[in-house]
Amino acid sequence: MGITMEELRKQFYEHLQQANAAETFEELRVRYLGKKGEVTGLLKNMGAIAPEQRKEYGAKVNALKEEVENSIKDRIAEAHARELERRIAATERYDLSLPSTLSEGSYHPITLVQREVEQIFASMGFTIEDYDEIVDDYHCFEALNIPKHHPARDMQDTYYLSNGQLLKTHTSAAQNAIMRKYGAPLRAIFPGRCFRNESTDACHENTFFQMEGIMIDENISISNLIYFMKTMLSEVFQRDVKVRLRPGFFPFVEPGFELDISCAICGGKGCPSCKNSGWLELCPCGMIHPNVLKAGGIDTEKYTGFAFGLGLTRLAMMKYGIKDIRDLNSGNLKSLDQFVK
Ligand code: DAH
Repeated sequence: MGITMEELRKQFYEHLQQANAAETFEELRVRYLGKKGEVTGLLKNMGAIAPEQRKEYGAKVNALKEEVENSIKDRIAEAHARELERRIAATERYDLSLPSTLSEGSYHPITLVQREVEQIFASMGFTIEDYDEIVDDYHCFEALNIPKHHPARDMQDTYYLSNGQLLKTHTSAAQNAIMRKYGAPLRAIFPGRCFRNESTDACHENTFFQMEGIMIDENISISNLIYFMKTMLSEVFQRDVKVRLRPGFFPFVEPGFELDISCAICGGKGCPSCKNSGWLELCPCGMIHPNVLKAGGIDTEKYTGFAFGLGLTRLAMMKYGIKDIRDLNSGNLKSLDQFVK
């Protein structure tokens, strides 16, 4: 018969005493508790034990196994604690009174533009509304006069959840809920993140920001729409911006327009950011379609209104001369850091 249980216990504690590094603890564990380990080996002596003592012997071996295991664990924990104390005491002590070596944080260009536009509209009596990013088909399309199978849906392919909900493709998705919440008269803007299943390039992204606005009251006309758009854009750019209105089709407005601004990056000459046209579509808009007003519970005999969907991402690109839309979602502080405010 080889080593006895008592001898083995003594030997283990001697070894444990000498161990101090993670690897040695692991070696010890394998040496004593592994498949071919010494404690496990004690069970092989079973044959030499009198049958009536085997049960007791087995239990003792198991108790020793547990003892060895716990002792190793305790020593590892102690070693960790000692190491932590050492590091705190030595190298990793922070002196809170020292000046920071990190640069100051900055706001994202979209946030800056969003806040600015919000302020301009707030000063014109608009409330600022928040709305979900996950919406249902009704709010994103049906309530906006875009029935199922309408070709206008083709341009707004997006990401669907397994429960049938979808990531909103445009901030217009909030129109219905906001009309229902406040009724008429109403002036509200609602900024938000939008999603589309797009291939990306310098001017397309699958995730971008818009700011929708609606104004509903008695006698609202296209002149009101143009006035508000012009006031807002000249405030944002702090100069007289060149704009042009073209007819545009959107099922939720009638008539509908595309409001373009002259590209600030190339000065109207044509560049990749404006698809070489010299103009950037910035703000589609129009007079809210009566079907949309009705779906929002608004009395169409009494009220009319306008709506616009400002491309907030595009506006930020114009304002700060950002050439590639992909920079905005890149998380790259080298390009985003310069907008410190
Ligand atoms: N929701 C439209 C889009 O993202 C943009 C839009 C067009 C919004 C006309 C409007 C509007 O409010 O009147 O394609």
